[in-house]
Amino acid sequence: MHAKSYRRWLGVGVALCALVAAPGPAAANEAEADYQPTFAKDVAPILQQKCQECHQPNSIAPMSLLTYGEVRPWARAIKDRVVSLEMPPWHIDRTVGIQTFQNDRSLSQEQIDTIVKWVDGGAPLGDRADLPPAVEWPDPGAWRLSDRFGEPDLVVPSAPYTVPADGQDKWWRPMAETGLTDERWVKAIEIKPSFPGGRKVVHHAIARLLQEEEGVTGLANSVDFDDDIGPGTFMEWAVGKEGEIFPDDAGKLMLPGARIQWDIHYHAIGEEVVDDVVELGVYFYDPGYKPKYRTILHGFRGHQGGIDIAPGQIGMSQGFTMLKGPARLENYQPHMHMRGKAMSMEAVLPDGSRRMLNNVNNFQWNWHINYIYADDVAPLLPGGTMIVVTAWHDNSTGNRENPDPRQWVGNGSRTVDEMAHAWVDVTYLDQDEYDELVAERGDLANDD
Ligand code: HEC
Repeated sequence: MHAKSYRRWLGVGVALCALVAAPGPAAANEAEADYQPTFAKDVAPILQQKCQECHQPNSIAPMSLLTYGEVRPWARAIKDRVVSLEMPPWHIDRTVGIQTFQNDRSLSQEQIDTIVKWVDGGAPLGDRADLPPAVEWPDPGAWRLSDRFGEPDLVVPSAPYTVPADGQDKWWRPMAETGLTDERWVKAIEIKPSFPGGRKVVHHAIARLLQEEEGVTGLANSVDFDDDIGPGTFMEWAVGKEGEIFPDDAGKLMLPGARIQWDIHYHAIGEEVVDDVVELGVYFYDPGYKPKYRTILHGFRGHQGGIDIAPGQIGMSQGFTMLKGPARLENYQPHMHMRGKAMSMEAVLPDGSRRMLNNVNNFQWNWHINYIYADDVAPLLPGGTMIVVTAWHDNSTGNRENPDPRQWVGNGSRTVDEMAHAWVDVTYLDQDEYDELVAERGDLANDD
């Protein structure tokens, strides 16, 4: 309470000072208003930082945005997409909930304004001498996490599958042995579709961890994994997702004899992709290191007992999951299909108070974005908290992704059916540690 009101008070103070102290705000604003951003000086650095990872010849986007010559014809489209917050893909509601993420790739308002002004001013090149040096991009077939961690310690491939040029969506569910003979704690995981074919046809891929949990003890968690939860899903990948990295005090646990049950969703694209293989890459902690907490991937449900959307209508559903012990949520990743419109995740605490954790208000089904919380804002929630996931589906003609607004829609795994859940990595804490973490954050612990 204190810290909060202090912050507000401080904000007012700063605003007043600015009014009184700034000598010639009008002059400064005028100079700013006259300034015409150029590609070389102002826009190229933004594209390098926020667009080129996807917009280059060997990546997933339809056109390359590396050079002025490549960018210029797209200037108007670029303006439209950045103003509507469709590009870069980052669809979180900026007006509610937590706003600090480890992997935020959205544009700041200032960057959006710069691009708009550049396009409105005729999209000039400016002085070539101002161009930043070209970025050296990593090999598109390489593991994304390799620049941080090197090659994975363990790679588990799916059995090959040939995706025909045309046809229905296919769910490919081969089982794979990991060959693991020791218990190992996992620091990071990545799922990698093959390049270039797999990147175009893999809609999403889930790796489920199957292992014997009996007798696993010594965890600083108040949750019984044997009966309650099991090892859970290991990782879910979808277009736009890179990998999962756990904080130093947490990780996933793999046991000897562990197997991976793949669940790969292929979508035909008009050209055959032969013998496609999806790989799971696992990075372990050093054998001697045991993180304090075990992280579990939950699919928090966004409906209870079914989705039911009338033709031409907006549908809403809600799902409820209780946290069985104190926990920290590490990320938020909504999952819906073509009619997905918005999804929020709220926490109802045992004292009855309610917190909006996040809302994705501009959901795009072909982007499954994993919003990874910054360490100091990852929500800490007491045991008994109810996680409420609310999903909105748009089955009207107003949704341009809607394949057929005349259909009734229920839940199912085809792209034209619907789903509603949020993938969230949950680290269960013991009570003392939870209290300590909350105390460390002070009054701002649950303040976003
Ligand atoms: C994570 C990958 C990714 C990032 C980052 C990204 N894009 Fe895209 N972009 C795509 C993909 C894939 C498409 C095509 C599918 C779609 O429209 O969603 C696309 C489509 C577009 C289009 C529409 C093209 C058309 O055919 O009309 C524009 C314009 C665009 N992006 C601009 C940008 C700009 C500008 C940035 C950076 C500020 C950016 N993108 C960042 C992947 C990305």
